[in-house]
Amino acid sequence: MTTRRAFLNAMGRAGGYSAVYLSMQAMGLLATPVIGATRVVDLPAGSGAGRSVAILGAGIAGLVAAYELGKAGYKVTVLEARGRVGGRVWSIRGGDRIEQIGREDQLCTFDNGFYFNAGAARLPTAHTAILGYAREFDVPIEVMVNVNRAARLDFGGRSITERQAVNDTKGRFAELIAKALDQGALDAQVTQADREKLRVYLRQWGALDAKGAYRGSDRSGFRDNPGGYANPGVPMDPLTLDQIIADGFWGGGLTFEETFDQQAPMFQPVGGMDRIAYAIYARVKDDVRLNTPVKAVRPTGHGVRILLEDGGAVEADYCLCTLPATMVKKLDIPLSPAKKAALANTVYAPSAKVAWEAPRFWEQEGIYGGLAFTDAPSQLIWYPSGGWNAPRGILIGAYAAGALGNATSFSSMPHDQRLQVSRAVIERMHPGKSALLAKGVTVAWNETPWSEGITARWTPEQRKTDYAELCRPEDRIFFAGEHLSYIGAWQEGAALSAHEAMTLLHTRMVADRMTGKRLA
Ligand code: ALA
Repeated sequence: MTTRRAFLNAMGRAGGYSAVYLSMQAMGLLATPVIGATRVVDLPAGSGAGRSVAILGAGIAGLVAAYELGKAGYKVTVLEARGRVGGRVWSIRGGDRIEQIGREDQLCTFDNGFYFNAGAARLPTAHTAILGYAREFDVPIEVMVNVNRAARLDFGGRSITERQAVNDTKGRFAELIAKALDQGALDAQVTQADREKLRVYLRQWGALDAKGAYRGSDRSGFRDNPGGYANPGVPMDPLTLDQIIADGFWGGGLTFEETFDQQAPMFQPVGGMDRIAYAIYARVKDDVRLNTPVKAVRPTGHGVRILLEDGGAVEADYCLCTLPATMVKKLDIPLSPAKKAALANTVYAPSAKVAWEAPRFWEQEGIYGGLAFTDAPSQLIWYPSGGWNAPRGILIGAYAAGALGNATSFSSMPHDQRLQVSRAVIERMHPGKSALLAKGVTVAWNETPWSEGITARWTPEQRKTDYAELCRPEDRIFFAGEHLSYIGAWQEGAALSAHEAMTLLHTRMVADRMTGKRLA
């Protein structure tokens, strides 16, 4: 009989420490899976021949796994409850029905060619795995304008342009530091020589005058833009420090673009975010069963048996479960008490978006793409990138998500109320234009069947406990999804966690093949 120790020793002689380490992970013998440096899976062609994997869910994790495992020779079967692939990558178009738990269905009536990315909607350049799939499958991408100085901020009842908020804030902060320098308050921190250099920089950074005062700047824009002949333009009155503090303009909007994965340039697939999911799907279509909800997962001793809601069953050597934890919780699957406890502790964030079709009035005001932020529960307006200067377009009129505050109240509002809140904010930022908004639809991920949440919200403490537990395979069942990554709520996290799970699964398969028996 091959003991685990003998097997690991043999593995060590053949493949060194890393082979042993991977085997131990695959056998569930290590407390914390290795999740660190991005490792892009590259399984040898044909290495999975003769072995089968049942993949639960055809979101990005499931599709990526189907593609990569299929390339390696595994026979894969993807079981997807919905009639579409992509999971939380959902581009809604005219004719699509929007089903929400406990709400009336909505029918999207957008004109041909328009889409609403109800879930994933942007691609940072740091996300090289998902961008790599877009490249590999020739999915055209275009710049997604994530920041726009012409867009407005609507805070504390005041609506101003982002360029004014950004530059007046810089000006006032620079002025404060300059004053502190002049008054000797920073003498202990900054040498005399450096104080002079700092003054020069503050004048530049904050557009201060020679005396270190901020008197406004054309960086903040104009009340009336400059023109020809006798039109020098009318400058803005600079915001005072009191106004900036009272109105809270830096609430979310001003620092949003500094977030690691929100920095320009950002991209989007031309024609809808689901183009990447569908491009992967095109390669694995024959192995994907849509409209096939899973009822139960049963380990058989030598593999897994997946029982389907329609009464059928699928047998496979291994199972890769890419369902969100919200759905795993509801699945009839014999998991360890530790896994069940971790699932019970997992909390998903709510979120909701609103989309409108409208004539592109915002472009006539000089706003091309980008985000406008508000302290109203709708949180933002997201102007479309692409289709520039066309007669009409799709305006995202709200996106309330977990991290930004009002998501719980906004996503629990009736649909009509969400639309009303969005309309009122758009009216404040674009007076007289809200009457042009038509065909409004709204999606909340916590109310979307088969998702029931936008993303898992992990505390740093939970990363060591519940999160680590959910990453750990159980016998021949492996787990992946954005929630099992440090890139939560992104396709990249789904893809990279699938890569991790495939590496474990493959190592386990090699171990099973070498010993010819179950090891755990
Ligand atoms: N990936 C999510 C977004 O960009 C968090 O809004």
